[in-house]
Amino acid sequence: MIVTKRVFIKTWGCQMNEHDAERMAGLVAPMGYVPTATPDDADLILLNTCSIRDKAEQKVYSDLGRLNAIKAARPDVLIGVAGCVAQQEGRALLQRAPAVDLVFGSKGIERLPALLTEALTTGRRVVYTEDPIGIAPTLPADRRERVRAWVSIMEGCENACSFCVVPATRGRERSRLSREIYDEIAALCASGCREVTLLGQNVNSYGRTSFEGVDFAALLGGIHPIEGLARIRYTTSHPNAMTPRLMETLARWPKVCRHVHLPLQAGSDRTLERMRRGYTLLEYMALVDGLRQRMPDVALTTDVIVGFPGETEADFRDTLAALEAIEFDNIYAFKYSRRPNTAALAMEDHVPESEKDRRLQAALAAQRPITRRKNDALQNRVEEVLVEGPSKTDRTRLMGRTSSNRVVNFDGPPTLIGRLLRVRITQVKANSLDGRVDE
Ligand code: 5AD
Ligand code: SF4
Repeated sequence: MIVTKRVFIKTWGCQMNEHDAERMAGLVAPMGYVPTATPDDADLILLNTCSIRDKAEQKVYSDLGRLNAIKAARPDVLIGVAGCVAQQEGRALLQRAPAVDLVFGSKGIERLPALLTEALTTGRRVVYTEDPIGIAPTLPADRRERVRAWVSIMEGCENACSFCVVPATRGRERSRLSREIYDEIAALCASGCREVTLLGQNVNSYGRTSFEGVDFAALLGGIHPIEGLARIRYTTSHPNAMTPRLMETLARWPKVCRHVHLPLQAGSDRTLERMRRGYTLLEYMALVDGLRQRMPDVALTTDVIVGFPGETEADFRDTLAALEAIEFDNIYAFKYSRRPNTAALAMEDHVPESEKDRRLQAALAAQRPITRRKNDALQNRVEEVLVEGPSKTDRTRLMGRTSSNRVVNFDGPPTLIGRLLRVRITQVKANSLDGRVDE
C-alpha cells in the first residue's frame, strides 16, 4: 500500500507556471503525494518560481526565509525550488537557502519523480538545470478546474529579446507531438472540459523545431473537430510568427476565441530594434489591420514595457501614440526590470526608477479610457458566454467569459455550468460585466 504524503505547491508567474504546478502535482501523485493547502502539514514543499521581473524573484527569497523555520521544526520535510528562479540560479540557491533540498528548473519538471527519489534515498541535496532538446514530453496533470483546462503545446523560446530572461530559463523551443495533444484534449473533453487554453512562450511558432511538419495553423485544424470542445484559446503569440495563413485559420474556425494577445512591447522603432523584437511599429500595425479585417469583433490585448534602457521621452511618447492609434481592448504595462543573462543589462542609460514610475502611470492612464470605451460598447449586446462556475464575488450567482475574454456575472442555477449561453450585457463595471441570460 502507498503511504499518503502531502505536497504543498506555491506558484508565482504566468499561466505556463500555473499549469506546471498542475503537472508537478500529477507527477508526484503516483508516489503517494496528495495536495494540501498549507506548508505546515506538508511532507514536500515546492516553490514554483518566476523570474520575469526582479519583484517576482524577490518574493521567492522572502518565502524561503520563512521556510527555514518549518525545516528547523520538522527536518524531514523536503523543500524544492522549481521554475524560472531555480533554472536561473541553480546550485547558487543551495548556498543562499540552506533549507532547500531540491532545485530543478522549468526545463526539468519531467524529472521531478526521479529527482525526488534521489533526494529521498540518498539524503543528498539535488540540483537539475539541464537544457533538454527534441520533443516536449506529455506529462500527467492534476487539474483543479473541469470546464477549462490548460494544455501545454510547446516550451521554451528561440527568440532573443534583449530584456527577457525566458530563453535562459525555459530553454530551447520544444514542441509536443500533435497526436499527443489531440489525445490529451479528447480525454479532457470526454470528462466535461469545454475550453482549452493552448500554452507556450510562442504558441504560433509551434512545430518550428519538430520533425512532424505540423505548424500552429495545422494544429488548430486538428484540435477543432474534437467532440465536446466548445472553445480554443492560446497564449502567447509573437508578432513575427503571425502569418497570413495563421490569421486566416484563426478567423475560419468558430471555436477559436475572438481574442489575440499580441505583445507590442514598445511603440518606438528605435526601442523595438534595441529590444531585438524583429518588427517595426508599422509592421505590427499591419498585423492588427490583418486581424481586424478578418475578425471585426476580435479583442486585442498587449504587453508594453516602459523605461527600457535608453528610452527617451520622445520614444516613450511613441508608445503612448501607438496605444492611442491601435486602441487595444486592454494592456499589461510593466516597468523595465534588469534581468541576469540578458543583453539589455549591459546597455547604457538605464532610466531612473522614478521616471519609470511616471511612465507606467502615464501608459495606464492613456489606456484606461480606451478600455472603458471598448467595454461600454458591449452594453445591451448579446454575447456568447461559457459558464465557468460560481461568481467570485457572489457565490449564489454564476460567472463566465465572453469569447473576447471578458468576465460576465449573472444569475442562474449551477446546472448551467459548462454550457455556452447567450447573455445580454446589462451593466459595464470597472473589471467585469453584469448580464442576464437571454432567452
Ligand atoms: N522587465 C519588464 N517587463 C518584462 N517582460 C519581460 N521581461 C521583462 C523585463 N525584463 C514583460 C514583457 C512580456 C511580459 C510577459 O513580461 O512585456 O511580454
Ligand atoms: Fe515567469 Fe516567464 Fe518563467 Fe513564466 S516563463 S514563470 S513569466 S519567467
